[in-house]
Amino acid sequence: MCQIDLNKYLEYNKEWAAKMLSSQGDYFDSLKEGQSPKALLVGCSDSRVSPSKVLGLELGDLFVHRNIANVVSHTDLNFLSVMQYAVENLGIHDIIVYGHYGCGGIRAAYENKSNGLIDNWLANIKDVIRHHKNELEEIENENDRINKLVELNVLEQIENIKQTSIYKKAIGRGEAIRLHAWVFDFSTGLVHDLKKKYNIVPAVV
Ligand code: CO
Repeated sequence: MCQIDLNKYLEYNKEWAAKMLSSQGDYFDSLKEGQSPKALLVGCSDSRVSPSKVLGLELGDLFVHRNIANVVSHTDLNFLSVMQYAVENLGIHDIIVYGHYGCGGIRAAYENKSNGLIDNWLANIKDVIRHHKNELEEIENENDRINKLVELNVLEQIENIKQTSIYKKAIGRGEAIRLHAWVFDFSTGLVHDLKKKYNIVPAVV
């Protein structure tokens, strides 16, 4: 594996901080006052999908949770803690599940080979495959089938969010939690809104 010079990142960082200060003198001071992000985003850990970069966001704009294949698992204390803090402390009312075409985690689950520990995590996606077996088998081209699975996985994770006690409590308090199903395509740079693509109402608000 080639060795990269991490020092160049630190050098870049110094330049970036200086640039931010020169264009907006109170930029970092304003961050110290606290955060009020507009949305929680649940994305894949894949290095090619960086949501802040793709969506043009600045520090403080987005509360983020990432894992392999943007899974919402009811036993994942990490995700549940992030979601609870987002909804109950930060007052976030918009949650985006942000999948992406070409997802290695989705492909690995689809291929069903043995990959060790990660198989336990990918079992969440194998459930999605089982739930949509007929729909997926109707698609002849394998890439198209896996892309469809990427979309179905996003929609399934939205359903999983709705099953959390955090979501149910918020709805019980009369709060609107808007759920958004987005898929990023790194072959075009575009983010697709599945709600529009499939005309889904009101399951995904
Ligand atoms: Co991925």
